Amino acid sequence: VGSIEVDISTVAEGMAITVSWRGKPVFIRHRSVAEIERAQSEDSADLRHREADASRVQQPQWLVVEGVCTHLGCVPLGQKPGDPRGDYAGWFCPCHGSHYDTSGRIRKGPAPLNLPVPPYQFLSEAVIRLG
Ligand code: FES
Repeated sequence: VGSIEVDISTVAEGMAITVSWRGKPVFIRHRSVAEIERAQSEDSADLRHREADASRVQQPQWLVVEGVCTHLGCVPLGQKPGDPRGDYAGWFCPCHGSHYDTSGRIRKGPAPLNLPVPPYQFLSEAVIRLG
């Protein structure tokens, strides 16, 4: 129950979309090569919630995460052009100042955990099924 199919074919590199799934926002970001490289190189950083970037993505260019801050549930900024993305170039939660990186991992601020990766699969190069 509760699966949705999302067409990602029009999401250009460097762009992102937000879809609603089971009442929550889900962020789908088409990462640039620089964003992928940064996420991978920071695997060895001092991560509060240690997860390798490769364990958080199925295809490196597509990052899919729930858009719900793991502190108290605000929706982080960073999806729209011009949004602040925080000190680690991912997302910034304005409620109490949590910073997430280009893998959606928590790097600074009060949130305890990385942005969760929802269950999903690629049905084709152009379509993701969430749930
Ligand atoms: Fe995001 Fe508190 S809800 S920092």
